[in-house]
Amino acid sequence: MSPFQLTRTLPEDATDAALRADVRSGLTASPRTLPPKWFYDAHGSELFERITELPEYYPTRAEREILLARSGETAAASGARTLVELGSGSSQKTRHLLDALTGLHTYVPVDVSESALTRAGQALAAERPGLRVHALIADFTTSLTLPESPGPRLVAFLGGTVGNLLPDERAAFLSSLRALLAPGDTLLLGTDLVKDEEVLVRAYDDAAGVTAAFNKNVLAVINRELGADFDPAAFAHVAVWDPEREWIEMRLRSRTAQTVKIPGVGLVVDFAEGEELRTEVSAKFRKEGVRAELSAAGFALSRWWTDEQGRFALSLSVVRDDG
Ligand code: AVJ
Repeated sequence: MSPFQLTRTLPEDATDAALRADVRSGLTASPRTLPPKWFYDAHGSELFERITELPEYYPTRAEREILLARSGETAAASGARTLVELGSGSSQKTRHLLDALTGLHTYVPVDVSESALTRAGQALAAERPGLRVHALIADFTTSLTLPESPGPRLVAFLGGTVGNLLPDERAAFLSSLRALLAPGDTLLLGTDLVKDEEVLVRAYDDAAGVTAAFNKNVLAVINRELGADFDPAAFAHVAVWDPEREWIEMRLRSRTAQTVKIPGVGLVVDFAEGEELRTEVSAKFRKEGVRAELSAAGFALSRWWTDEQGRFALSLSVVRDDG
């Protein structure tokens, strides 16, 4: 059994405070919005796992195909002694990368879910003698401090989750990530690509209704955490493609005029019939856009790999020596 350590970089109640702040500002805004990070309680994380197995939801399979083919090249190009994985979840897809990184000293899985981190981290530490596993409970969109560990570092941010940030949030996130790294460190980034509208919309509105349940789960989270009285059945799941901004939006559309009480933040929210609450943006990318966003943050794109069908990309970029 190799060393396993868990560090909480946020106080236990920071999550509650952040949820309250997001609900307060998002539900009083026009149009109303909620950030997608609140989908992922234990039930939401389970629903997301089921989404990744749906026939319509191709990104997970496409990314796995690329990781299988390119982990060796990634390992060789990065020479990483530390692997940091943002949003590691169950660490399932990271196994190929861990296998390929023969000189690895420390693995740093970062996630907001303590249960997922502990389970995955302990299993990995048990399986891989000699690998130090230092799990971080952190919200990498707001603050991140990395533990001491040998360089070079490879940061993996997979799944296309970077697309759940809005463009200005993405720019801020990439710049703050750059600030944590040193020249020669690398970033392995998963980005879903622009494609046919029907394929995209089906991936976010599956026939079995799993994505609808996932979307509505955020209402159950607010009911439980803030004592609200949302009726999930009173909202319809909506997925739309925005061709200008090249992103999918998930929304919850109020089926009737209704009033919802949220005692935890002292809010009473009136929804008009048909009024929509935006719960997620999932941006789709093109190579030149990814290159430009990375460059603006101080990363130089060095490799660009897609799956056979060209649906999803993994890019490898290097921290430039000028920041
Ligand atoms: C894997 C978090 C990027 O945006 O595709 C899946 C989340 N939302 N179905 C995505 C999600 C609806 C997913 N991320």
